[in-house]
Amino acid sequence: MSAAFAPAGPARRWHWRSLRLRILLAVLLWVSLGIGGIWFSATRLFAKHVEQQYHEELEVHIKELAGLVRVAPDGRLRMDRPLSDPRYLVPLSGYYWQVSLPGRETIRSASMTRGRLDQSVAHDSTIHHHIEDGPTGPAITYGFLRDAPGAGQVHYAIATDERLLDEAITRFTRELTVWLSALALALVATGLAVVSVGLRPLDRLARATARLRAGAAARLEGDYPTELAPLVGDLNAFIDHNRQTVERARVEAGNLAHALRTPLAVMTDEAERLAHRETTRNAGRILLEQGQVMAQHIEYQLARASSAAGARGPGTASQIGEVLTPILSAMRRLHPDREFLLRAPTGTGAVWPVDPVDLAELLSILLDNAGKWSRHQVRVELAAEPDLPELAVIDDGPGLTPDQIARACDIGTRFDTAMPGSGLGLAIAREIAGAYGLRLTLSPRADGASGLEARLSALPDGA
Ligand SMILES: Nc1ncnc2c1ncn2[C@@H]1O[C@H](COP(=O)(O)OP(=O)(O)OP(=O)(O)O)[C@@H](O)[C@H]1O
Ligand SMILES: [Mg+2]
Repeated sequence: MSAAFAPAGPARRWHWRSLRLRILLAVLLWVSLGIGGIWFSATRLFAKHVEQQYHEELEVHIKELAGLVRVAPDGRLRMDRPLSDPRYLVPLSGYYWQVSLPGRETIRSASMTRGRLDQSVAHDSTIHHHIEDGPTGPAITYGFLRDAPGAGQVHYAIATDERLLDEAITRFTRELTVWLSALALALVATGLAVVSVGLRPLDRLARATARLRAGAAARLEGDYPTELAPLVGDLNAFIDHNRQTVERARVEAGNLAHALRTPLAVMTDEAERLAHRETTRNAGRILLEQGQVMAQHIEYQLARASSAAGARGPGTASQIGEVLTPILSAMRRLHPDREFLLRAPTGTGAVWPVDPVDLAELLSILLDNAGKWSRHQVRVELAAEPDLPELAVIDDGPGLTPDQIARACDIGTRFDTAMPGSGLGLAIAREIAGAYGLRLTLSPRADGASGLEARLSALPDGA
C-alpha cells in the first residue's frame, strides 16, 4: 500500500526500536546492577561482621573461663562461679566449654549434656581456633593451654555451634532480599511511570500527525513541551508554506487557462473563416487541427497542474460517499436512459486522502465514459474492506480490446469518434490517480460479459 494510504494504526509503543523500550531496558539494567551490587556487598559485609563478633565473643569467654577455673592442690578442677553468659547453662544451647587436666579430671559446661570437645585445638599457650565436631554439629572451637604449677597443663576449650552463625546470616540475607526486591520493584515502577508520562507528548505528536495525514486536521495541533515545540512550529510553518505554494500554483494555472483560452478561441474563429474560403481552405483546416491539439494540451496540462500540485498536501481528504453521491445524480440527469447503481458492502463512509475536487474530477471522468458507452447499466463498486481505497466503475457497453486499453489513456485518443469528446478524460484521470498514489486500470469485465471495468486501487508500496 502506498505511503499516502498506509493506515495510521495504533502506535507500536513497545516495539524493539521504541524509545520507551530502550529507556525501560536501561532502567532495568541499572536497577538490577545497582540492587544486585548492594545485595552482594551487604550480605558479604554482614557475614564478615557477624563472624568477627562471634570470634571476639569466644575469645572473651575463653579468657573469662581461664580466669574462673582453679586447680586445687589435689589436682581437682573447680570454678568460683559459672561463666557470666547464661547460654552455657542451657542444655545443648550451642554454647559449650570444657576444661581438662589430662589424666586427672575434665569439667564441662552445664549445656554439654552429651558429647565432648576436641582438645587438639588447645595445643599451646596462644589461643587457636578451628571448626571441630561439637556435641550438636560443627562448632567454632577456641582453645589454649596453661601450665598449672605442680599439676601439669590445663586444656581450655570453648565452642559455639557454627549453625548459629549461619542462621543469623541466612535470616539477614532473607530479610535483605525481601526489602531490596521491594526497592527494585518500586524503582522499575517509577521508571515505567517516568517513561510513560515523559514520552506522552510524542504519542500526542504521533496522533496529531496521523490526523494530519488522514485529513482530519490541517496543522499539527496541541501544546508541546519546550523540547518538541520548535520542531512542531517548524513543521507547521513548512505545511503552511507548502499550502500557500500549492494555492498559488492553482491560481496561476487558472490564470494561464484564461490567458490562453481567449486568444486560442479567436485564432480558431479565424481558422474556421479561412477554412470556409476556397483559396485558404487547406491552411484553415491545418490551423483548426493544430488549434484543437493546442487546446487539448492546454486542458490536459491545466488539469495536471492543478491536481498534481494539490496532491498529498497534508490535510487533504474526501469522504467517498460525499463526493460520489452528487456525481451519481448528475450522471443520472446527463444519461437519463442509463441505470447507475452503487454497490458499497461496508457503506460509503471511507475517507480517502485525496482532494475532493480532484476525486470528483476523477470519478466524473470514469462515470461519464461508462455512461456514454454503456447500453443499460453502470455499476460503481466499493471495496469490501472499509478503509481500502478501491473502487470499480463497470459498464455493459462494447468494452475495449487489449490494444485499445493500452492506448486509451494517451492524450487525445478516441476510438469512437461518433461520440462527442476530446480524448482527454482518461489521460487526466490517470494523472490525478498517479499523483495520489492510486492506480487506474482498465480491463474487460471480470464476469466475461461485454463491457469495460475501470478500477482505482492503491499502488503497492514503493511503486
Ligand atoms: N467505458 C468505455 N467503454 C468503451 N470505450 C471507452 C470507455 N471509456 C473510454 N472509452 C474509449 O476510450 C477513449 C478515450 O476516453 P477519454 O475519456 O479519454 O476520452 P473521451 O471520453 O473520448 O473524451 P473526454 O472524456 O475528454 O470528453 C474514448 O474516446 C472511447 O473510445
Ligand atoms: Mg471521457
